[in-house]
Amino acid sequence: MFATLEQLPPDPILGLSAAFREDPSPDKVDLSVGVYKDRAGNTPVMAVVKEAEQALIAAQATKVYLPAAGSPGFREAIFRLVMGEDTQDLRPRSAVLQAAGGCGALRLGAELVQRAQPGATILLGDPTWPNHGPLLSGGGLQLARHPYYDTATRSVVLQPVLDALESAAAGTLVLLQASCHNPTGVDPTPEQWGQILEVIVARRLVPFFDIAYQGLGVDPDTDAWPIREAARLLPEMLVAVSSSKNFGLYRERTGALLVLAQDRGRASAIESHANKAARALYSMPPAHGALIVETILTDAQRETAWRNELAGMCAHIRGLRSRLAEGIMAARPGYDASWITRQQGMFSLLGISRDEVNSLREQHHIYMGYDSRANLAGLNQDNLPRVAELVAPLLPGD
Ligand SMILES: Cc1ncc(COP(=O)(O)O)c(C=O)c1O
Repeated sequence: MFATLEQLPPDPILGLSAAFREDPSPDKVDLSVGVYKDRAGNTPVMAVVKEAEQALIAAQATKVYLPAAGSPGFREAIFRLVMGEDTQDLRPRSAVLQAAGGCGALRLGAELVQRAQPGATILLGDPTWPNHGPLLSGGGLQLARHPYYDTATRSVVLQPVLDALESAAAGTLVLLQASCHNPTGVDPTPEQWGQILEVIVARRLVPFFDIAYQGLGVDPDTDAWPIREAARLLPEMLVAVSSSKNFGLYRERTGALLVLAQDRGRASAIESHANKAARALYSMPPAHGALIVETILTDAQRETAWRNELAGMCAHIRGLRSRLAEGIMAARPGYDASWITRQQGMFSLLGISRDEVNSLREQHHIYMGYDSRANLAGLNQDNLPRVAELVAPLLPGD
């Protein structure tokens, strides 16, 4: 049966991590895979997560399955985290399902849409996170791409985005990253969000938000603002939530799919279909990570501790951005590197060529995406000066 399957090339991002692990150089720097790193270059378990996990294990009396929709306490807590405190009018018209990470939520959302509108189209900005395509098309959606980012100005190309939305048929889905855009680090400004949402409302399009870095851009409320604004304006939308980065729960596969519907009846019908879709995919979601998030967000003291710890991670990334910009400007006098500090989150698309990316890796052991996406959280005080010096002359522009 399997004789027809040829060996595939390694996954571009995961393949780089494997190459990094095998590189014996003491100078190696990993700016490839999108995980948060501390000053020592580790991706630690957050202190509040460790404490909540211990409390959870001490109190846990069973490992019996969760319902297909997930733990009720987690579902309420994650809804509040994304939508805000003032959600009394939104919650009744929402379906909320626990999912296996943001990836699971994206896929489950696609499967759900497929049940309502077989062959529906989703608009994707270019570039976007490379896994969006496979997750969404794997769930049956048709992909249509439009420009998102201008490499010369390192900003959102608003008019082509608006044109793509204007010319989409009513009911078309639109994938929107709420904050900390992967891979560019460039989010629309609040004014641009206003214009984007205005066209979405006018054309009766349906946003499918992806929020994977809530709290790593500015703070959890500011980073979720575009979603809350859309929820105020629109009858229907989907949100794929990931708890991988902001709770550091990567391998626990923790996330949620939120779906806003026109009314309570539709939300209930949506939840029944999403349950059915989940049942056919994996039956029930994994419990451990979701119960950790629930343990944190249902306890005011733990939630405050989490917000503080997350704010520290966010400040660390912002500090690295400032120091990288300073290092680049010191190595290349006259060059304006302020774009690095204007961007949000862990990523930056440096805009250097594939050959330059390859030579940084082969000659200097600095690993980043082939498209020059760099996870700036991989920098630290030891490696930052060298990276700044090597990257500075390669950056396009004056
Ligand atoms: C933009 C974006 N969306 C979603 C995800 C999904 O994350 P996970 O499935 O690990 O929760 C990621 C992870 O890197 C991401 O960068």
